[in-house]
Amino acid sequence: MADRVVLAYSGGLDTCVGIGRLRDAGKDVVALTVDVGQGGEDIAAIRQRALDCGAVESIVIDAKDEFAGDHLVPALQANALYQKRYPLVSALSRPLIAKHLALTAKQLGADTVAHGCTGKGNDQVRFEAAVAALAPDLTSLAPVRDLALTRDQAIVHAQQHGLPIEQSERAPWSVDQNVWGRAVATGSLEDPWNAPDEQLYAYTQDPTVPQDPDDVTITFEQGVPVAIDGQRFSMLRVVQELNALAGKHGVGRIDVVEDRLVGIKSREVYEAPAAVALIAAHEELESLTLERDVNRYKRQVESDWADLVYDGLWFSGLKRSLDAFIAHTQQHVSGDVRLRLHAGRAVVTGRRSSQSLYDHDLATADAGDAFDQSWSKGFIDIWSLPSKISARRDLAN
Ligand code: ARG
Repeated sequence: MADRVVLAYSGGLDTCVGIGRLRDAGKDVVALTVDVGQGGEDIAAIRQRALDCGAVESIVIDAKDEFAGDHLVPALQANALYQKRYPLVSALSRPLIAKHLALTAKQLGADTVAHGCTGKGNDQVRFEAAVAALAPDLTSLAPVRDLALTRDQAIVHAQQHGLPIEQSERAPWSVDQNVWGRAVATGSLEDPWNAPDEQLYAYTQDPTVPQDPDDVTITFEQGVPVAIDGQRFSMLRVVQELNALAGKHGVGRIDVVEDRLVGIKSREVYEAPAAVALIAAHEELESLTLERDVNRYKRQVESDWADLVYDGLWFSGLKRSLDAFIAHTQQHVSGDVRLRLHAGRAVVTGRRSSQSLYDHDLATADAGDAFDQSWSKGFIDIWSLPSKISARRDLAN
């Protein structure tokens, strides 16, 4: 009996080539498609294409709710942005796909998994590092990386091997998408001076086309968005609804030169309307409900969290410990944030919370001031005492 390999299958060119390569090497390929809300193509068509490429079995798992609950909620609570800009769209999905690869391999008694990544990106690291952490005895194969084909060569390779690839594979960009956003790269974007073509966007409308603003109120309970304009939704639905609402105003277009883990700088364009709107709202509610020191310390933790996830260390000890810290900070992050969606931006225009630390009587510049300004003199004397003492010494030298 041939060796069985479970391959993470997206339906795209590289994973089709992956099936062909593994089959040629005498493997029985089980194609596993994990639906994280990539939308676009019909999932039944993707499933069938795997079989047409020569997979012995093609499995589809709907992991959209799991992705939203287990990956997007922690990402939002971490206000996670890699290099302050990128909401980790692809980096968040890889560990979940890897988890299902490992589970499926176990169920089928397979000792090998595979992915269709090339050798130049982050995703190969994320898949293999996650599999190593979850199932250390599994072997990971990377049949496409081993070939090191250019995109054109991959198309020729697929045609020569009779693999049914989509016409869309001739699309001018490489795209990875899920419910948290879209990542677009290559083609005309490889020159960082080239402006992104309007055609490459799918989740957002052109923010320069004039439209009336929309106001939207997002309700959070302990750091989880639970309602939009008073209507309760699951995390998945919140994200889907906001992709539509904020996407209509062109919110969440991100054009960056990014540092990949493998040392390459790459120009990437993202669109993540819900992610950008939700992070703006969540961060604002934290400003209202977290103590100054917790908020300030959390910003450092968030940056480390985003780096770990970007670098493929979702299932690592440090990441779990940072998760615990972040989860603990969310206890009082409950309340409403109003956003104005307009011209490519999601701007906070109001916030309120039963857990608020904002004290009107302390903050007011009007009558009713409860802050005794005479406290400030002694405070500043002590606060500046070390500077005063050292300045005296320095001036005397
Ligand atoms: N640069 C982004 C990241 O590393 C996006 C990667 C997109 N992946 C892809 N196969 N097109 O997370």
